[in-house]
Amino acid sequence: MKASSHPRFSELITARQIQRRIPQLARLIHPAFARDPDWAIVALLNGSYVFVADLGRALHKLGLTPPIDFLALSSYGAGTRSSGKVKVERHCKIDVRNRNILVVDDILDSGRTLAHARRLLETRGARSIRFCVLLDKQVPRAIPFQADWVGFSIPDRFVAGYGLDLDHRLRNLPHIVALDTQP
Ligand code: IMP
Ligand code: MG
Repeated sequence: MKASSHPRFSELITARQIQRRIPQLARLIHPAFARDPDWAIVALLNGSYVFVADLGRALHKLGLTPPIDFLALSSYGAGTRSSGKVKVERHCKIDVRNRNILVVDDILDSGRTLAHARRLLETRGARSIRFCVLLDKQVPRAIPFQADWVGFSIPDRFVAGYGLDLDHRLRNLPHIVALDTQP
């Protein structure tokens, strides 16, 4: 068996840190949408499915019950390096026209995915588009991009857990791990 089939990980963000941060994020997001009856969340699949579940419930506790839909974009393929190309795997089904949209994603890395999501939603006539990411990787972006709300800033390491995957594994970890060795 190749050594490469045993990637090593260490814990980077604990489940408790994540669960403390999410209600804080919800409180920070709340004022931006509290007076808007028609806003919507568009979460990017696959990576954000755990985060948007927890964030959505934290927003509900504050009285916000937006529609939540999903847009599937892929850039990574299998492995730990982005392919550099963003592909639309599934468009969102809600009508974003003239609506204020909150895009939720797991991680901001090169910026390509979120920049692509912004272009798509602008083309479809969204009134405003804001971005909340759980993780912001501290790397020079391929495309300049800043999220409006960030859970945690992290170093330039490949991470997995809490929705983020390594070849579709590790998504169900309640915490975030960082890869020690490249697989
Ligand atoms: P970007 O387009 O380079 O900003 O990458 C964003 C997308 O790549 C995210 O939505 C993730 O799905 C994926 N991604 C980026 N970095 C990581 C990582 O460290 N682990 C797992 N997925 C990642
Ligand atoms: Mg993703």
